[in-house]
Amino acid sequence: MKDVELMRIAGEARQKAYAPYSGFCVGAALLGESGKVYTGCNIENTAFSPTVCAERTAIFKAVSEGERSFSAIAVTGGKAGDAPSYCTPCGVCRQVLAEFCGADFRVLLGNATDVRVLTLGELLPEAFGGEMK
Ligand code: THU
Repeated sequence: MKDVELMRIAGEARQKAYAPYSGFCVGAALLGESGKVYTGCNIENTAFSPTVCAERTAIFKAVSEGERSFSAIAVTGGKAGDAPSYCTPCGVCRQVLAEFCGADFRVLLGNATDVRVLTLGELLPEAFGGEMK
């Protein structure tokens, strides 16, 4: 699948965002090695801390459906009503991605007309991997 197509799907997923508290809507599209795409949006909560990001929604959906190998994720975000734009994954989502994805996993950021590609290794260098030294 082309990067722009995965980003287009992330933009569609963003339309499902439930963000009444921040007004910031994020969409994600995670490409499994099976070829299946898992979408996610952020889902906020009145108690704030139960809020879950779009990226984690997507990865938890995928893992819960049996897929654990991934090749790329597209992420797009922005204020409700604005066009989707550049939005980087938060630290918690980077760590969750690192549980299932290697340093060369591709992270697509931006929107359907402007996609920037980074690797998970660039976004989360020196990731904690459970080593006790
Ligand atoms: N958000 C995401 O969905 N993904 C990120 O990586 C960054 C932040 C959401 C969480 C919250 O609902 C809103 O954006 C504002 O922080």
